Amino acid sequence: MFAAPTIADEILDLKRQRKAILLAHHYQEPEIQELADVVGDSLELARQAREFSGDVIAFCGVWFMAETAKVLNPDRVVVVPDREAGCSLVDSCPVEPIREFRHRNPDHVIVSYINTSIEVKAESDILCTSRNAVHIVNSIPRETPILFLPDSNLGNYVRRETGRENMQIWQGTCIVHATFPARRVAEAKVEHPEAKVVAHPECPESVLAMADFIGSTSAIIQYCAASSAAEFIVMTESGIQYSLARAAPSKRFYFVANENCNCSECPYMKLNSLEKLRDCLLTLQPRVELSPEIMRRALLPLERMLAVK
Ligand code: 13P
Ligand code: SF4
Repeated sequence: MFAAPTIADEILDLKRQRKAILLAHHYQEPEIQELADVVGDSLELARQAREFSGDVIAFCGVWFMAETAKVLNPDRVVVVPDREAGCSLVDSCPVEPIREFRHRNPDHVIVSYINTSIEVKAESDILCTSRNAVHIVNSIPRETPILFLPDSNLGNYVRRETGRENMQIWQGTCIVHATFPARRVAEAKVEHPEAKVVAHPECPESVLAMADFIGSTSAIIQYCAASSAAEFIVMTESGIQYSLARAAPSKRFYFVANENCNCSECPYMKLNSLEKLRDCLLTLQPRVELSPEIMRRALLPLERMLAVK
């Protein structure tokens, strides 16, 4: 008697047939991360998308990440398990006011966090991720005025780190990170006095002020694995727990609930599921489709970011 194939078996089968690569962000469910060829932060996934040589990219993350992969792979099919997997930062930054800003302030360099729509990327001079934002801003001549968008917490963090006064910051926020209350971090520190606090720079300044380490999802994982500490209070989306446990199996990780959902989950990231991943490999829908013109314009700031060492 043969057992019926599981959804995971079907996905691996379809992956072979389609010559597909599965890219997954650290916030995805463990069963998705287990099947992925690469699990990473936004910068690593953008780089991996460029290295790939098959026909299809199944992007298990949110839509703006898949759009980035498409810009780097215009001739490949890029699919996402759920079309509604968006991002509050993307929603907080429509393109019209950015076009207007550009028109009125031709002297400003527009630095856009990768969590933006393809239209906003196309209006930008250079992109950044949470991993390289400080480095990217430091690569711009000090006297050049900057508009940083759309995340206000990341922008303020970059301004503090770089000492840049001539930097305007868009007032967008992430619904997951911006609603972590400092008071709950303080309570967690009382409960776990030996634990180090690690935080994503999308957190409010009051939370970052309590952090022993601030960095992208992958940088947080690397820090926890290398640290001599055994316990960590983790101020980011709780899907990262799976990657943390893989990288540092003997260590303990504590999560703090935010005021948005009283949890620490990104509702957009959690829309993807194994069933939807199987279906998108089967039907090649929902598929990222972008005009050659917008891809050409968005590629320039993306390539500039990737070229900064
Ligand atoms: P990372 O690039 O650090 O993985 O961040 C992506 C993100 O959406 C954080 O909320
Ligand atoms: Fe966007 Fe926040 Fe979700 Fe990251 S965690 S994808 S920034 S809504």
